[in-house]
Amino acid sequence: MTSPQARRPIVAANWKMNTGPDDGAKLARAVAAQGLPFARVDVVLCPPATGLAAVAATVRSTPVAVGAQHVYWEASGAYTGEISVPMLAGLATYAIAGHSERRQLFGETDLDVQRKTLAILAGGLTPIVAVGESLDQRDAGQTLDVLRSQVTLVFEALSPDETSASVIAYEPVWAIGTGRNATPEQAQEAIGWIRDTVAEVQGSTAADQVRIQYGGSVSPDNCDELLSRDGIDGALVGGASLDAAAFAAIVRAAAP
Ligand code: PGA
Repeated sequence: MTSPQARRPIVAANWKMNTGPDDGAKLARAVAAQGLPFARVDVVLCPPATGLAAVAATVRSTPVAVGAQHVYWEASGAYTGEISVPMLAGLATYAIAGHSERRQLFGETDLDVQRKTLAILAGGLTPIVAVGESLDQRDAGQTLDVLRSQVTLVFEALSPDETSASVIAYEPVWAIGTGRNATPEQAQEAIGWIRDTVAEVQGSTAADQVRIQYGGSVSPDNCDELLSRDGIDGALVGGASLDAAAFAAIVRAAAP
């Protein structure tokens, strides 16, 4: 069994539809200059597509990694507006799949998320697979069923090694951008359930090794209590990641 301490925490910034090349590069420079504990935590910045090149150039000589917020699963072709994994070569080493805003606002299905995750892995990048229940689903007592089906549909298509190399972000939809974070108990319960589901689908080694973040209104005020919990291997941060000092505080809280 891998002890929780053996999983390296990972904190990722999801800038969403904020920043262009110039202000994105400036924010990336500010993050890289925060004196972060890079020896103990992986740090990833996910700018919008138009900022990927500028941010990648800015952090090239630092331990900060770059991720795409969104990819399409085909490698090339007539898909106006889409970006493929091979097109990220030299720009990103991570890519988010299945963010709830993509699912809710742009109609992405579990099967789409599976295809994207496979394409991200096939391209040699690390997927950050986002899952989470809506408020209605939580209120109806469906949280664990929703998480089980979201996780199963993606991870049953992977190998155990691909699963181990992936990152999962547990992001309850009701906590995203609302200022209402899940309690540490809620986050820990859901993440434990996700890990159990991965174990059923891909075995206990993969489940022990896959890193599972919490996301949803993570801030400097709540990061200590969330990220000190066993089993919570870092955070996916939206709003607070647009401020270098606030993001840095969250990165430090994730360091073991
Ligand atoms: P938030 O966003 O931190 O602004 O709630 C998190 C996310 O959507 O990944």
